[in-house]
Amino acid sequence: MADSLRAAVTGMGSYVPARIMTNADFEKILDTTDEWITQRTGIKERRIRTDGESTLTMATEASRQALAEANVAAADLDLIIVATITPELPFPATACLLQSELGAGNIPAFDLSAACSGFIYALTVGDQFIRTGTYKKILVVGVDVMSHFADYTDRGNCILFGDGAGAAVLEASTDERGIAYTVLAADGGGAGFIHAPAGGTRLPTTHQTLDEGLQFIKMQGRDVYRFAVEKMQWLLGDCMAQCNLTPDDVDMVIPHQVNMRIICSAVEKYNFPMEKVYINIDKYGNTSAASVPLALKEAMANGKVGPGSTVLLIAFGAGLTWAGAVLKL
Ligand SMILES: CC(C)(COP(=O)(O)OP(=O)(O)OC[C@H]1O[C@@H](n2cnc3c(N)ncnc32)[C@H](O)[C@@H]1OP(=O)(O)O)[C@@H](O)C(=O)NCCC(=O)NCCS
Repeated sequence: MADSLRAAVTGMGSYVPARIMTNADFEKILDTTDEWITQRTGIKERRIRTDGESTLTMATEASRQALAEANVAAADLDLIIVATITPELPFPATACLLQSELGAGNIPAFDLSAACSGFIYALTVGDQFIRTGTYKKILVVGVDVMSHFADYTDRGNCILFGDGAGAAVLEASTDERGIAYTVLAADGGGAGFIHAPAGGTRLPTTHQTLDEGLQFIKMQGRDVYRFAVEKMQWLLGDCMAQCNLTPDDVDMVIPHQVNMRIICSAVEKYNFPMEKVYINIDKYGNTSAASVPLALKEAMANGKVGPGSTVLLIAFGAGLTWAGAVLKL
């Protein structure tokens, strides 16, 4: 019965570059301190790609791991979705390049752009195809090279971001494992709060846009902060209400690793103890679409969650976008 199908996460993979950029490294190039960055964000270090590493190489490595863990051959996949705002090329889609790299068949493959909410957006799309019985095995990837957009002369935001990739294999399941609920939202009225002004068709790249640094992230940090706290709180409340859960029923909240203070403000509203909130922002910073799958994979790998766990995924990002999911592992 198609309506009893659920999308179970049967394998996960992740990849981060080996190169570490610490807060002390920023002290050498910017007017900032480890103390300021740690107190305001919770970030101690982040991973930055080196030559030879790109969106595609990172996505490929994370995907291979996820496929191996799920024991699924690339040739057996039905669909590939890549969530990214830093694609390998302006076109074609990174998902098509990944399909070829993995040796998957001529299956549909597309990218999806929802910034830091991207992985949950992609998970939701994959979930719909599985629930309707259209596809049985789907690869969902969240990957971003945020160092590509970071202006290392702008202390107000470059300290936040890092590079990484996370991947999940979704398979049709008829037991209670799988995605129980998802919610997506967006408010394009807030697009200007965090964006890259140039490099698209509105303002194509020219020598002048490059000289003015308009290819880099421009962010109204305080506005984003307020929005983030409000939406993260709303997502937690909505996910629990829709699934009749209390904080006691939730084994782990996996929030977008955006800012320790934002995460704490969100979970405090529902009195989640911090041991039920997965944090790795100190090591990776904000990796955009990779953030949630990197944290989920790490929580699984170190035994913080496992088969039977109920996990809440919540994220928000540029767009503005926000998204949540309830997952039974
Ligand atoms: C970016 C952020 C950490 C800044 O923290 P904040 O407490 O809001 O700080 P403000 O931007 O108000 O700046 C306060 C002061 O610190 C200074 N400052 C900014 N960045 C600094 C840095 N890296 N080091 C030292 N000082 C810094 C500012 O210049 C300002 O100085 P002033 O008071 O003399 O003008 C915070 O706003 C934030 O995290 N916002 C959300 C951003 C985000 O998550 N974006 C991604 C969304 S997916």
